[in-house]
Amino acid sequence: MQKYEGWEEFYSKPIEDKLDTFIKNGKIFDVIYAQQFERSYMEELFALADKVRVIAKTQQGMDFLGTILSDKKALLFFAQPSTRTFLSFQNACHTLGMKTSEIRDASTSSEVKGESPEDTIRTFSSYVDLIIIRHFNEGYAELASWTLNEHANRSVPVINGGSGKDQHPTQSLLDMYTFQRSFADIGGIDGKKIAMVGDLKRGRTVRSLCRLLSLYNDIELFFVSPPQLAMRNDILDFLSENGVKYTQTDDFEGVLQNADAVYSTRMQDEHDKNGESASVDYARFTLKESHLATMKEHAVILHPFPRRDEIEVAVDNNKRAAYWKQARNGMWVRIALILKLFGRDDVVHQSGLFKN
Ligand code: CP
Repeated sequence: MQKYEGWEEFYSKPIEDKLDTFIKNGKIFDVIYAQQFERSYMEELFALADKVRVIAKTQQGMDFLGTILSDKKALLFFAQPSTRTFLSFQNACHTLGMKTSEIRDASTSSEVKGESPEDTIRTFSSYVDLIIIRHFNEGYAELASWTLNEHANRSVPVINGGSGKDQHPTQSLLDMYTFQRSFADIGGIDGKKIAMVGDLKRGRTVRSLCRLLSLYNDIELFFVSPPQLAMRNDILDFLSENGVKYTQTDDFEGVLQNADAVYSTRMQDEHDKNGESASVDYARFTLKESHLATMKEHAVILHPFPRRDEIEVAVDNNKRAAYWKQARNGMWVRIALILKLFGRDDVVHQSGLFKN
């Protein structure tokens, strides 16, 4: 593995050149970027999640799952607000028998007393076996991974639970899992037309999702946004280089008729510098109950949530609304991911508790 002079040099390298630093013993160890995942890894992960959710239906199954990682502890360090990512990771850990501790407000960490992030991260690793991080600083989870790999004696995996405006790799895993389950009877994800709607410029979920969708065949993407919030060029260039067809448009209603999936997102105005989002007309991208009649019968509607007004509440009762299932899928996928990171997935496969 290539050695780097220091963090600044490491962080400045193209992501593709340093993916092997997140691997140990031939397996993904730290989860920092969506680019780390191959299609085969996702398919294994989703099959494992399918098994776990069935096993978890019985008391015997829950008792069994609760033994698999009862020797491990996790820290959830969430310096930005979160409901779903925090709770689904926490409940994933608890389902597997892990004990958890949490820092949910960076102002309660000793970093405010001047401690460096590196020392803070090394301190975390003294107490736990897994660190899950959400941070407003785009490089923080990667810095944690780098610090522990370079300096700490303890081998502690790091999971990025959302990094600034950049990536949310585990959200994209659960989004892909939701697509796979939704399209199971109509040929899977390959060949689907997927509309991503809203603040694509600053939405980290759509950025990670584009990376994972590019691993499937004949995907067509529609980026539907106000012009001020269009998808950034790094993702557009990546899609072009990988032969993924995409269209940029603000014709929301036109796209709805063609889409196999609509992935709606909220305005990410927490990243505003001077309240510039206030002048953007976002309301014309709201999915209304009246739109349902124009959409394909098999289409699915996803949203990473939290939702403001992007999808009318009246849509929730329609069979195409998949966003509540999507949120719950996050827990199953994160259970499967943690099992794989610790190399305990075989315990589930060999348990004999899974019946089709
Ligand atoms: N989807 C998502 O990341 O939601 P939270 O911000 O509630 O974790």
